Amino acid sequence: MNLIMKMLAAPATVLALWAVSAQAATNDEIAKRLEPVGQVCVQGQECKGMEVAVAAGGGGGAKSPDDVIAKHCNACHGTGLLGAPKIGDTAAWKDRADHQGGLSGLLAKAITGLNAMPPKGTCADCSDDELKGAIEKMSGLK
Ligand code: HEC
Repeated sequence: MNLIMKMLAAPATVLALWAVSAQAATNDEIAKRLEPVGQVCVQGQECKGMEVAVAAGGGGGAKSPDDVIAKHCNACHGTGLLGAPKIGDTAAWKDRADHQGGLSGLLAKAITGLNAMPPKGTCADCSDDELKGAIEKMSGLK
């Protein structure tokens, strides 16, 4: 290689190295910016920052009226077993509500139990609000 070629090649090499490292830095930055988007949370695995979303989704949060009814109340209230007022029979529920002083009276009886109706309708870990939601849904009363 003659002298002129060497003189031309040296800066070119430096320029090439600089270009490669500049490209690498840019890729790192792009990767960093993409990180939060690329995070995937799999159910059952710890996933920081997703606790709020999981709670809002119902896992460990309040039980929905449908859930409570399906798991606990439907066994008797679905068919009217043992004389239980049937789900959707608003007239029957209204009659009872009138006797107990409204929905809060029904809730009180649901908590303590009434004859063949077991305390809390067998949902021992139901909150008053969750029981109330189930009663509202079954009776159609508000
Ligand atoms: C083992 C059967 C059974 C289950 C399970 C059950 N109930 Fe009942 N429930 C009854 C019967 C029977 C009555 C009627 C009792 C009576 O008037 O003698 C009744 C009545 C009621 C009443 C009316 C009380 C009143 O003052 O007239 C409410 C409210 C009620 N149930 C809510 C619930 C809720 C909420 C659930 C589920 C969380 C539930 N029940 C689960 C059998 C059941």
